Amino acid sequence: MFLTDQEKRMLDGEMGYPIQKGMQIMTVLGESFGAERMVNVSSSHMPGASIMLLGRAGMMFVEEMAAKGGQFSTFTTTNPTSCDDTLWEKLGIGKDIVDLQARLTAAYQKLGAITCATCTPYFVGNAPRLGEHAAWGESSAVVYANSVLGARTNREGGPTALASSLTGKAPAYGMHLPENRCGKLLIQVTRPISGIFEYGSLGYHVGAVAGQLTPVFSGIPSDVSFDELKSLGSALATSGAVSLFHAVGITPEAPTLEAAFGGKKPEVELEYTAKDERAAVEHLNLEKSDHVDWVYLGCPHCSILEVRDIARALAGRKVHPEVELWVNTSTAVRTLARHMGYAAAIEEAGGLIVCDTCPAHTPSREMAKKQGYRTLTTDSAKMAHYVAGEVGFPSHYGSTEKVIASAISKRWEG
Ligand code: F3S
Repeated sequence: MFLTDQEKRMLDGEMGYPIQKGMQIMTVLGESFGAERMVNVSSSHMPGASIMLLGRAGMMFVEEMAAKGGQFSTFTTTNPTSCDDTLWEKLGIGKDIVDLQARLTAAYQKLGAITCATCTPYFVGNAPRLGEHAAWGESSAVVYANSVLGARTNREGGPTALASSLTGKAPAYGMHLPENRCGKLLIQVTRPISGIFEYGSLGYHVGAVAGQLTPVFSGIPSDVSFDELKSLGSALATSGAVSLFHAVGITPEAPTLEAAFGGKKPEVELEYTAKDERAAVEHLNLEKSDHVDWVYLGCPHCSILEVRDIARALAGRKVHPEVELWVNTSTAVRTLARHMGYAAAIEEAGGLIVCDTCPAHTPSREMAKKQGYRTLTTDSAKMAHYVAGEVGFPSHYGSTEKVIASAISKRWEG
């Protein structure tokens, strides 16, 4: 693998141990994927930010890099942690986890990360431009960065994202190379779709068909929102290994169908039908009873517009006293929601705005057991997919309106 003189000096340790360690990780990674060179990276998003997922050994590695003078050279943000600092007692999270989480977050801060603790870092300022190389972890964020922003990132793990942050480098393979960014699979969307749930169902169906192939959507309406694209991408990355999609006339690398396919013909062509949508919904809507106890909105973390819409939908209504409604977002968005009065509206209705974590990053299995929850009701295809494994029970999956209505009535209208 070709290294510049500067990269060789990094690898030789001339710029200190953390950079040397980072370059060792980058060169091993690059050689295993046949990369010929490095690219300069300006933005990173750290997936290993939850102590529950990273563990003590991972935390000690991050602490070691910080103690030895490591400093991130990219704009680095962090994924959700294990707890909401303001709600951990109410949610039944142990103090031992809170303390370990604080140590890990402090180490990231010492390294120079913006510890925003969200899977939607693009809503809090980390938004690399078209063609900019990045090193992001968190599958839903990766697909958004590649597809909606047009940045170039592979799906990084904790150590490789950390190494890129320290060195400002990533091996040039996969999504960094323009020839790997062309569409392979054409999806004709001929029926009207809208909202988080319908875009999530579309993504969930197509992800399962696509595997690692890059899908190109034709027929997505031009007024599709960023939140709908967020839902589409996160679902694609849940049922498949998709890191990039194109939507013709909408996403930056797909001004035309020809551009989306790099001038080549699609390998596969499909039409998205009502039957496909029904199959995706049936696959995710696994709870058979109408029982509702834990209602969850915000996977991926809500934008300020989603929080606003939830606040509006709850106006003049009350969450059932035996239901817990989570609206999941970042502290940054919750702060803005407080400023706008949306947070007060949600809390007055009996909902909780839970920040900086999510059921996949917090000890939710123990929490659910303690609270006596039996099911989770959500509008998110990704959360509906993971909840059985993370929490141990099935989900109700439906539109945002239906999910909110179930929080009021404590009943799922199947
Ligand atoms: Fe974000 Fe957790 Fe969903 S990290 S994408 S809210 S599973």
